[in-house]
Amino acid sequence: MAAAAKGSAVCVRAYSARPDSARDTLPGRAKVTVHALKKMHSDGKPIAMMTAYDYPTAVACERAGVDMVLVGDSLAMVALGHQDTSQVTMDEMMHHSRAVARGTRSAFLVSDLPFGAYHADIGDSVRNAVRMVKEGRAEAVKLEGGRHFVSRVDAIVNSGIPVVGHIGLTPQTAVSLGGFRVQGKSVAAAQHLVDDALALQTAGCFAMVLEAMPSLVAETITRLVSVPTIGIGAGSRTSGQVLVLSDMMGIFDRFTPKFCRRFAELAPQMDAALVQYKTDVKARRFPEEGLHTYAMPAAAEDRWREHVLSAYGLDLDRAAEPTAQVHQQQQQRSSV
Ligand code: KIV
Repeated sequence: MAAAAKGSAVCVRAYSARPDSARDTLPGRAKVTVHALKKMHSDGKPIAMMTAYDYPTAVACERAGVDMVLVGDSLAMVALGHQDTSQVTMDEMMHHSRAVARGTRSAFLVSDLPFGAYHADIGDSVRNAVRMVKEGRAEAVKLEGGRHFVSRVDAIVNSGIPVVGHIGLTPQTAVSLGGFRVQGKSVAAAQHLVDDALALQTAGCFAMVLEAMPSLVAETITRLVSVPTIGIGAGSRTSGQVLVLSDMMGIFDRFTPKFCRRFAELAPQMDAALVQYKTDVKARRFPEEGLHTYAMPAAAEDRWREHVLSAYGLDLDRAAEPTAQVHQQQQQRSSV
């Protein structure tokens, strides 16, 4: 919470971790709804979607004015350090979804249903989608898979929850796809993707993510379906684009897919800042007295110095000795 210093225009943050909601959105920005997304699509305006994993990344997306924020299960890898996305749980996804929801005001919030949350049966799928909305505060859920998942999509949509489909490279099942590979490169494989897209549209998906497929296949799907397609590694002719925030920010530098443009290089900046911090702490260059510090009122300070001198024999006007020396003196004093 920022508090203006009396008589000055300078803003002083009294606490380091209190969200200031007034700054967290673009002024006058209308709430993005399913209807607004449909309108962008029918007007031929590209939809900008970005993943977010916590409150600060959500606020950054909100301030940038992205249309859709996705709490992607990619968080398993980029935020939780797993090797793939299959291990993240419903509870973990909801925990992150709630954090992102706190930072999301006008952007439309979609959260991924993780691997296992919609695979066993339809009842489970609906229950987990409802939890993601009720407890995770998502406005829509995304699930991976095509024709084989239409029963799940249909049931979730009929329970009143908007669903985003996801076909092409589906990271949750990367093992059975033979790894993180581009999909739809042969005519037969491309036809499967078109069949998947048409099936998802019929089942009621209001949008679908197309991941890692030739641009021509993504364009075909985009022109055949009447709902927006959001591409990632699917070329420039989809209705919108999505990227994994940590990849495009250059935070997750273990691996960057070919399709990702790094819009920033934050990892080296973070490393350099942390080394500088450690160096400055060790050299006592941080914090700087008067700049990063709080003071007692002058009168209270004088009285405090006198009090400490008489109560503890500690003269605050004399430079402090190294801690080891102080401990030794204290021990000597107590053994007398
Ligand atoms: O989990 C995720 O981040 C995603 C995007 C790659 C679309 O599903």
